[in-house]
Amino acid sequence: MNIHFFENKQEASYAAAFDVYTSIKNKKSIVMGLATGETMIPIYKKLISIIDKHPIDLSKITAYSLDEYLFDQPTKSFRHFLMKHFFMPLKKYGLNMGHLYFINSQNYLKYSSSISKSGGFDLVLLGIGRNGHIAFNEPGSSINSSCRIVKLKSRTIKNIQKNWKTNIVPKKAVTIGVSEILNSKKIFLAAFGKEKSIIVKRAFVDPLSSKVPASYIKKHKNVEIFLDSHSGKLIKFV
Ligand code: GLP
Repeated sequence: MNIHFFENKQEASYAAAFDVYTSIKNKKSIVMGLATGETMIPIYKKLISIIDKHPIDLSKITAYSLDEYLFDQPTKSFRHFLMKHFFMPLKKYGLNMGHLYFINSQNYLKYSSSISKSGGFDLVLLGIGRNGHIAFNEPGSSINSSCRIVKLKSRTIKNIQKNWKTNIVPKKAVTIGVSEILNSKKIFLAAFGKEKSIIVKRAFVDPLSSKVPASYIKKHKNVEIFLDSHSGKLIKFV
């Protein structure tokens, strides 16, 4: 596991985006798992600006969303997020909309075999929830878990309520499992801000535990973690 420390999230995002760009550039075809969330916004922005400056053909990308709320409000969906922050800005570089897959309550049972049929993830991009979730694998998730419907933990629900500034938020979601993440050839995880510092330490310094699903990625051989000075403050000198 390589942990990269940066002064701020802009620098960390640039480094993560540049690595993603290089991975895409160097491969004939690439299967990606794409996270959503605030953390990913500056990373996708930097990736788009790198591609704008140094265009590459993106028709080689097959991409899968990692999770989705079970909630009837399309503009709040992760599908909407990825369309806005990734797919639409990059469409002009040949992204094939037929090669984009979004997990939902109808397709989740076949999602894992769809990922396998595409060859499995070459690269999965992850954020981390404050309680250690990756995608929506909440605390207690098994290392062998696969695509499924999950109940969100109260901490996650409270966080969504805070972000959305309303009490009317999803209580359930559909997610890929820990197994699909660990089967990826490469894992990138980013965490920014002081509110992530405790969970970053619990996940990557403390022993592996199902209470912190992000800690499972310590078992993977090819992991790059991008932190800023706030999220990394408890582990920098460990
Ligand atoms: C979200 C998603 C995750 C994401 C995490 C962190 O709700 N389910 O895929 O990585 O929680 O989100 P953020 O980056 O907004 O802190």
